[in-house]
Amino acid sequence: MFNVIVVKDYQELSQKAFEVVKGVLKEKESPVLGLATGSSPLGLYQAMIDDHKKNQTDYSKVITFNLDEYVGLPREHQESYYTFMHHNLFDHLNIKEEHVHLPSGLGDLEENSKAYEALMANYQIDLQLLGIGSNGHIGFNEPGTPFDSLTHVVTLKESTRKDNARFFEPLKEEVPTHAITMGIQSVLKAKKILLIASGKNKAQAIYNMLKGPVTPEHPASVLQNHPDVIVIVDKEAASLL
Ligand code: F6R
Repeated sequence: MFNVIVVKDYQELSQKAFEVVKGVLKEKESPVLGLATGSSPLGLYQAMIDDHKKNQTDYSKVITFNLDEYVGLPREHQESYYTFMHHNLFDHLNIKEEHVHLPSGLGDLEENSKAYEALMANYQIDLQLLGIGSNGHIGFNEPGTPFDSLTHVVTLKESTRKDNARFFEPLKEEVPTHAITMGIQSVLKAKKILLIASGKNKAQAIYNMLKGPVTPEHPASVLQNHPDVIVIVDKEAASLL
């Protein structure tokens, strides 16, 4: 079931998303957050950092699982999601490194996928944060991914590599061709899901997610089957609704 909130701009989106996160942090002694990378959550992460500084909000018992990681990038690579999460969030909170989890895109990927899923089986994610790809992907579950998928290795679509080229161009590097991602079934296990999207290039994907048929061709449409999904979109992302 969707609760759709349309806001005027990215700043309001980030503030509203922060209120949802804060609610979960307050509710639970040891909350488990599923986190995302990319541009969409940056404002939310900054709001969490500001709040932590101002109000000393405690993250020492917070546990996190990230959705995905590129294959082949060492952790220290500037564009690895490990580095992204540390620079943009974890380094600025009192979260414990041993409570932070990302799938590893190095070494035996089959083994890593199984290990990540096994680790997650010990918890239930209280709140899973999602962005959405312009092609409707969630995590890196590209169109065509079966709904019963668990953590697995994916070949990134050319459109996704193009969307993400902005991060790699300054380094004069190519976007990796593969990633390891939580599967659709892994994502759906979360108690509550918060999906955020801004900008015109997300409008079609948001329309398909909310109003289209539930089909692997539009991976986010599977969220129609989840009991508790909050969608926060700005006017542009909501422009086709
Ligand atoms: C990131 C992720 C992706 C992004 C999506 C949108 O961990 O799993 O699904 O959420 O590609 O990316 P942005 O927010 O950069 O538009």
